[in-house]
Amino acid sequence: MQDFSFYNPTRIEFGAGKISSLAQLVPANARVLVLFGGESARRTGTLDEVTTALGGREVQLFGGIEPNPSFETLMEAVAVVRNNDLDFLLAVGGGSVIDGTKFVAAAALFEGDAWEILLNGGQNIARALPFGSVLTLPATGSEMNKGSVITRKALQAKLPFMSERVFPRFSVLDPVKTYTLPTRQVANGVVDAFVHVMEQYLTYPAQAPVQDRFAEGLLQTLIEIGPKALAEPEDYQTRASLMWTATLALNGLIGAGVPQDWASHMLGHELTALHGLDHAQTLAIVLPEMLRQRKATKLGKLVQYAERVWNIREGSEDDKAEAAIEHTRAFFESVGVKTRLGDYRLNAEHIDGIIDSLQRHGMVALGEHGDVTPEHCRQILLASL
Ligand code: NZQ
Ligand code: ZN
Repeated sequence: MQDFSFYNPTRIEFGAGKISSLAQLVPANARVLVLFGGESARRTGTLDEVTTALGGREVQLFGGIEPNPSFETLMEAVAVVRNNDLDFLLAVGGGSVIDGTKFVAAAALFEGDAWEILLNGGQNIARALPFGSVLTLPATGSEMNKGSVITRKALQAKLPFMSERVFPRFSVLDPVKTYTLPTRQVANGVVDAFVHVMEQYLTYPAQAPVQDRFAEGLLQTLIEIGPKALAEPEDYQTRASLMWTATLALNGLIGAGVPQDWASHMLGHELTALHGLDHAQTLAIVLPEMLRQRKATKLGKLVQYAERVWNIREGSEDDKAEAAIEHTRAFFESVGVKTRLGDYRLNAEHIDGIIDSLQRHGMVALGEHGDVTPEHCRQILLASL
């Protein structure tokens, strides 16, 4: 096991009706900005529940944070915070709204050009406003982590940042709030959470058996409940498991003390920035061929994954690895997330642009060994056509 420092200060309030606990979670004298996305929070009544729970506090609303939240929109929220002396933020939505709120929290107190936060990966964040979240889409884990991914539309750049200053103070997880999700978003959530686990698990053996068993448990749970979450949207227990699994997939726990990959995510971000694919769609395309391209260095873990997660017992090590990769692809397809570039009307002509972008963003030494080059990424995309 590698040395690590583990810190996670986010309180989770989990269960049906938990939005009412905002009355206690948000400081009584807070001047609050509630941030949300398009129309779902209003349409589903969640926004009303939130404002009711906030009672007599000073509350302003900021809607319109888009999927893959943009720097441009978020800077408008920063202006609202500054112009009205607001001191507490509350995100109501999925990963995009929560990520966006993290950025607003840091940017509102940042001196200088806030894009520098992204260019420095968050290292230059000295302080941030306190904030909480009400999660409506299980997928990203943003509700209990210190990461955020922001897109600057004008530059077609989608970049991550991390800072301990942007952990949510609390997150309210009410599985009932997921009932209104479109099928596509539920499927996206299953795939995103699955790939988060894979990025922290499928590297090389690191003598970390408990992290491995946690990761395998999360993967098996997603395989078991993913189809059910799609088929029975109002099955509370299934949605509850999906919600908590997605949170645990990226709250730092399974990644402590083990090597981490994240190459699929970095390549996927370019696909979203240039061609607008949903985040999970990019992962479903990239991960299977990423694993195949790097089969030699990942063989130990691929065989373990094959045996323990997919119960593949027959054949050589290579046979097991291949079968596990194909099971992974088939699982993504089975929940309705397509795994080929062609499924999204992308072809070989688009690959140069994607690789150029990757290079422009300095993503030239990816993966747990830092040996995944743009040329590897080109081969991965060619194999994903
Ligand atoms: O905008 P509205 O109208 O609210 O609709 C949203 C949005 O269109 C809708 N939605 C959310 N909750 C709903 C609902 N519709 C009906 N009922 C509900 N209860 O779902 C759509 C997608 O929402 P979004 O927040 O974009 O999805 P997701 O949670 O998958 O977040 C994706 C973003 O998170 C980033 C991604 O890159 C992407 O930008 N990620 C953040 C991570 C992190 N902070 O740790 C890690 C991830 O790897 C990921 O990169
Ligand atoms: Zn992700």
